[in-house]
Amino acid sequence: MCIKRAITILCSTGLLASTVYAQGKKPALNGQAKMNAFISQLMAKMSVDEKIGQLNLVTGGEATTGAVVSTNVEAKIKKGQIGGIFSLTTPAKIRRTQEIAVNSSRLHIPLIFGQDVVHGYKTAFPIPLALAASWDLPLIKHTARVAATEASADGINWTFSPMVDIARDPRWGRVAEGSGEDPYLGSEIAKVMVQGYQGDDLSKNNTIMACVKHFALYGAAEAGRDYNTTDMSLNRMYNEYLPPYKAALTAGAGSIMASFNDINGIPATANKWLLTDLLRKEWCFKGFVVSDYTGVTEMIEHGLGDLQQVSGRALNAGLDMDMVSDGFLTTLKKSLAEGKVSIASINTACRLILEAKYKLGLFDDPYRYCSEDRAKTEIFTPDHLTLARQAAAQTFVLLKNQNHTLPLKKAGTIAVVGPLGNTRTNMPGTWAVNADLANTPSLVEGLKAVAGDKATITYSLGSNLMADETQQTNGTMFGREIKRDTQTEQEVIADAVRDANKADVIVAALGEGSEMSGESSSRTNIEIPAVQQRLLAALLKTGKPVVLVLFTGRPLAIKWESDNVPAILNVWFGGTQAAYAIADVLFGEVNPSGKLPITFPQNVGQVPIYYSHKNTGRPLPDGGWFTKFRSNYLDVSNDPLYPFGYGLSYTNFSYGAIKLSGTKLKRGQGLNASVTVTNTGKVAGKEIVQLYLRDLEASITRPVKELKGFKKISLEPGESKEVIFTLTENELMFYNANLKYIAEPGDFNVFIGPNSRDVQTCKFNFSK
Ligand code: BGC
Repeated sequence: MCIKRAITILCSTGLLASTVYAQGKKPALNGQAKMNAFISQLMAKMSVDEKIGQLNLVTGGEATTGAVVSTNVEAKIKKGQIGGIFSLTTPAKIRRTQEIAVNSSRLHIPLIFGQDVVHGYKTAFPIPLALAASWDLPLIKHTARVAATEASADGINWTFSPMVDIARDPRWGRVAEGSGEDPYLGSEIAKVMVQGYQGDDLSKNNTIMACVKHFALYGAAEAGRDYNTTDMSLNRMYNEYLPPYKAALTAGAGSIMASFNDINGIPATANKWLLTDLLRKEWCFKGFVVSDYTGVTEMIEHGLGDLQQVSGRALNAGLDMDMVSDGFLTTLKKSLAEGKVSIASINTACRLILEAKYKLGLFDDPYRYCSEDRAKTEIFTPDHLTLARQAAAQTFVLLKNQNHTLPLKKAGTIAVVGPLGNTRTNMPGTWAVNADLANTPSLVEGLKAVAGDKATITYSLGSNLMADETQQTNGTMFGREIKRDTQTEQEVIADAVRDANKADVIVAALGEGSEMSGESSSRTNIEIPAVQQRLLAALLKTGKPVVLVLFTGRPLAIKWESDNVPAILNVWFGGTQAAYAIADVLFGEVNPSGKLPITFPQNVGQVPIYYSHKNTGRPLPDGGWFTKFRSNYLDVSNDPLYPFGYGLSYTNFSYGAIKLSGTKLKRGQGLNASVTVTNTGKVAGKEIVQLYLRDLEASITRPVKELKGFKKISLEPGESKEVIFTLTENELMFYNANLKYIAEPGDFNVFIGPNSRDVQTCKFNFSK
């Protein structure tokens, strides 16, 4: 339990500092006390209106991230009615806007400038789900660092990232924006992203404040439909869904965003249990809470009353900043007069927002992030592009590679076919609002550049993205164009087959358009669109080797493709340099090493499907099919198509037996679980060695496996390495029925392997 918020408020209002001062012992103020004193002095001068103004976040309207656009922004800034702006870029525009706040508002309080810097900035890195597939924490941190460098060079000091929502339903388009299904992997990634954005000093001009989102449980929307209700046991919440938010906050994230969904009947935006009891009292969070886009007004639609009622409820619950609703701005003063909210709540929220500005150094220099020079020299640099190319290659997952179809030789003719083969704008993926789309090569361009004059690369469209034009438009929004051919489907396929017949190998660039995943992009059919499947069937009929280069922002149900296509490389959406990276991997210059951070189902009916499920009292034996009175389906096995943690390489790795340093683990001690991994193939490669645990004697039902460690290693051909994991009581802990975080004595299974399915098992006993 931390010191209660009330005490924090007492301290942070400067009361303690002034008491000491009154006694005549003026101390040298430390950083925190200095900030408290500064803010107290400032707040003493602020009117209630000005305090409420700080709680108001508006959109600059440059990028469309919601349906409502803020109005009269300049006039409101002058009146001190705005605390921050998002979706405004470039040092010039931000400086001009900041000048209005600093020169024309009564108290000259600088604005905070936000943006969705989700996977890179102008240099777009792979979508977050893809980055998670790299399982490469230093690399992910590096991408966040570069994103912060570019964004801050363009005037931004606050990012709405990382998105850490655990997601196990691939119908939900926003699985693309997070790290997948697993709380452990998700937490590790959440931490490094925060560290990458914020660095070790938020006031440096190249660091930006992180905003963890979407708090909470947004990834558990019913039926995978965006913005939908969530309802979950506390047990599942604490053990499976909350850890990544907590990890990001523990890593120091300065802010957090309330999610759109309701939780047990109360929207997160006004959920006191969530925003105060859990976040402040239990987790001791000291930063500020912002709503999501119009999250406050949307509570009217949720059926919680009018704008005044919902705004008051949100503030009382612990929401500090209102994004775009103007609800705080237009109703809180009235609610204050009517006794429905307190000045203490307004003061607390205002203080937290001013503290964020202070930590960012904005009171020292409001133009700290407005350097034209930095914008010219630190954005889209050769170094950043090199990193983007390297990072993308680490995220691709080789799902199938029959008869060594891959890598391709740089020789002969390669026919690239498919609606995703020659589009630049679709490469960066969803939420790449600042990506430089024009300078993002298409797959064909990337292949040509990497193949040089050694191979001939041809291109044909082969099919539209989707047969239905309206659906294609909806899946290619925000300038993410894919050419449409107005000939009949048969004619378009025939053109492609003609080209393919002249080639030595076919690269089928198929899957989703970049806006078919992401916000408000839920799908009930998670297959490759039917028109593309028909193209693929025609390509296979040519008898030429076919490589499916699969673009997707979610797990797709690709059972037919998996059964029929010899090679499948899942490339997600790989960012600015994806095309080169795909070429690097297709030609074998980089050996693929990505592993799935989320399960691929056989069909949508298995959803939600995730590896860390409970066993039930009637489990199906491993590899089993239908058995009456077992937990299974009549029409499909329980197995996923590709399990969590799965991914192939151009080489093979063999795993020696697990060695345990003992069979007993005692509290305060460690137990080593190790395995020797050998590269038995002909090329160097990277392997992600995974460790899972199962509690066999717990007080509550526990998952059949939980990831508790992983190591990414590089091995030359013939080389072996011993990979050692040290298990302690920490790895065994979970929240019990009373939500107490404990490790219980008893037997545990430890599993080690290349994915969550193909593991070896040992047993050990834990005692106190
Ligand atoms: C999204 C958030 C995003 C915000 C601001 C909302 O629609 O849910 O993830 O940060 O818009 O763009």
